[in-house]
Amino acid sequence: MKPVVADDAAIDYAADLLRKGRLVAFPTETVYGLGADAANPEAVRRIFQVKGRPSNHPLIVHLADANQLDDWAVEVPEAARRLAARFWPGPLAMILNKKAEVPPEVTGGQQTVGLRVPDHPVALRLLRKFGGGIAAPSANRFCRISPTQALHVQEELGEEVDLILDGGPCEVGVESTIIDLSGPQPRLLRSGKITVPELERVLNAPLQLPSSVQEEGIRAPGMMAVHYAPSKPAYRCSAEHIAEAVKQCTRQKLHVGLLLYRETVPSSRRIHAVRMPEQPEAYARRLYSALRDLDHLRIDKILVEEPPEGEAWRAINDRLHKATLPL
Ligand code: TXA
Ligand code: MG
Repeated sequence: MKPVVADDAAIDYAADLLRKGRLVAFPTETVYGLGADAANPEAVRRIFQVKGRPSNHPLIVHLADANQLDDWAVEVPEAARRLAARFWPGPLAMILNKKAEVPPEVTGGQQTVGLRVPDHPVALRLLRKFGGGIAAPSANRFCRISPTQALHVQEELGEEVDLILDGGPCEVGVESTIIDLSGPQPRLLRSGKITVPELERVLNAPLQLPSSVQEEGIRAPGMMAVHYAPSKPAYRCSAEHIAEAVKQCTRQKLHVGLLLYRETVPSSRRIHAVRMPEQPEAYARRLYSALRDLDHLRIDKILVEEPPEGEAWRAINDRLHKATLPL
């Protein structure tokens, strides 16, 4: 399935397909999503088949605007309304108690539902045209890197998706921040472009952070230890050790792909070095496509120089920790 430029005609057609229970991949500001009518259990089941994702992993329902919150959630706390007013449309998903009508296929059998209004003109036009909620995980196979371009979707899902809307490369590049507001205390489930301090400012309360990947278990698949992974063995390494690590690889006659941040290692016959942007926003935008490009090369392993720590880098480091092993 070749991507189709997301003009008005293509979006009309996409909305029709969704109404018929078919699958449409579409761009959001974070990553491309694989969408189905969230009110149609059979269509939603097909998402899981196509992705190869276990059926107990819940999906985020995408909405055209915050007024639709109450079509999907009950006992919506004041905090959720404030976050929606501040950050929607935008890269924030909220977990809320679900309405009885929300199909269990969407929520992985849980009593909560994930909701978000994406900030992408194509996604918003599609949502308005369709009218209902669109359940959409990232449009990749289970445990693989999320697609940030229409061609990545084609590469991941081939003929198994009924339409791929091309809306250009995604601005943000990593998946949305997820906050769980269904319990007594707001909890961060996944980091993203919207940071903890930004959320806390609106919540006016501290956000509970995940204590460790292990403890969180598989409630959110984005939190499993090996996730978002390239198919080549990928390792991360501090700036101080990267030069030595590369030397070791070349001594073993290995071909390596490098994602560099500060250090300079020249490319050579066996070394394919890629320099990553300095700013976290630009780094995030590039990350998945850079990993995907390296994955396509005839290399034996991927080495990633660790970028800085700190709040602005939290989502990037989180994804790198899931895509790579420590060297
Ligand atoms: O940026 C994004 O959120 C993208 C775009 C397409 O919107 N979507 C995305 O979906 O990343 P997915 O399915 O790849 O990741 C959604 C995450 C999963 O880790 C899932 O477990 C979690 O959200 N999630 C969804 N509903 C949930 C719920 N009711 N309770 C806990 N976690 C939930
Ligand atoms: Mg995903």
